[in-house]
Amino acid sequence: MTDRFAVVGAGQMGNGIAHVCAASGFAVTLIDVSADALAKAKATIEKNLERQVKKGSLTAEARDAALALISTATSLDAVANATVIVEAATERKDLKLQIFRDLDRLAPAGAILATNTSSISITEIAAVTKRPADVIGMHFMNPVPVMALVEVIRGLATSDATNTRTIELAKALGKTPVEANDFPGFIANRILMPMINEACYAVMEGVGTPQAIDEVMKLGMNHPMGPLTLADFIGLDTCVAILEVLHDGLGDPKYRPCPLLKKYVAAGWYGRKSGRGFYTYTT
Ligand code: CAA
Repeated sequence: MTDRFAVVGAGQMGNGIAHVCAASGFAVTLIDVSADALAKAKATIEKNLERQVKKGSLTAEARDAALALISTATSLDAVANATVIVEAATERKDLKLQIFRDLDRLAPAGAILATNTSSISITEIAAVTKRPADVIGMHFMNPVPVMALVEVIRGLATSDATNTRTIELAKALGKTPVEANDFPGFIANRILMPMINEACYAVMEGVGTPQAIDEVMKLGMNHPMGPLTLADFIGLDTCVAILEVLHDGLGDPKYRPCPLLKKYVAAGWYGRKSGRGFYTYTT
C-alpha cells in the first residue's frame, strides 16, 4: 500500500515537507487551523515547484502531478486516512503536546506519528500518547526541497519498526536520513545554535558588524550563508526557542540565548518572515 502523508502546520517547514512528499509521488494533506496560512503555503509550493521547472530539475508534467497530490484541510480530523503524519507546527512545547494528544485520538492505528521538532524531546512528546512506539522525530532542514538531510530521532519508547519505516520513508522522499539520539537539540541544533548564538554575541559586543561576521564565515569557512543571515532565514523566534530548550535541558550557561537576540524577538524582529531581523527584507 502506498503511504499517504498528512502534514500538520503550513508554515515554512510544513509547506516544504508537503512539497517534497508530493514531488516524490505521495498524496499529502496539508493541515492548518488558518485557511489563510494554507492559501499562502499552496502559493509558496507552486512558486517553488515552478522554480524547479525553470531550473530543469522538474518537468511541467511532474509539477502538475505534484500539485494534484496536495489537498488542504483546516481540521485535524483530516489525518484519518493518513499512514504517516508529520507535525510541523510552531516550535512550542505546549502546542506540540496538544497536537499529539489530538493525533492519538484521530490518527489511524499503525500510522507513524512523526514530529519535525528541531529540539523538543521526542520522548516527552511520545509520552502524551498511548502509542509512544509509533512516535519519532523526523527533522527536515530549511529549505526542505533543497536540503538533503533528515535527522531521524528515536524517543525512548520508539519501536525498531517505526525507526526502520521512517528511515525508508526519508529515502523515498529523496533525503538522506541520519540517526540521532534524543538529547536537547539532537545533532543539528546542538552544534548549529551555539554558533548562531556566538555570532549574536559578537554583534552585541561590537566584535564586527552583521555583514562582517557573515562575510568571515562565508569566505573564510565556505558556509553558504553567514550565521546571521541563516538566523534570519530560520527565524529569530525559532532560534531563541531552540536555545531555551538547550539551556533548560542541558543546564549549562554556555547555551543561554544572547540578550540581543531576545531583544530582537521582543521587538517582533523575527528575521526574513517579519521583514526585519539582523537585516531588512522587502520581499
Ligand atoms: N524550494 C525549491 N528550490 C529552492 C528553494 C526552495 N524553497 N530555495 C532555493 N532553491 C533552489 C534554487 O532553485 C537553486 O536550485 P539549483 O541548484 O537547481 O540551481 C538552489 O536551491 C540554490 O538556490 P539559489 O541559487 O537561489 O541560492 P543559493 O545558491 O544562495 O542557495 C540556499 C540558497 C540553498 C538556501 C543556500 O544559501 C544554503 O544552503 N543555505 C544554508 C541553509 C541551511 O543551513 N539550512 C539549514 C537551516 S537549519 C534548519 O533548517 C533546521 C533547524 O532546526 C533550525
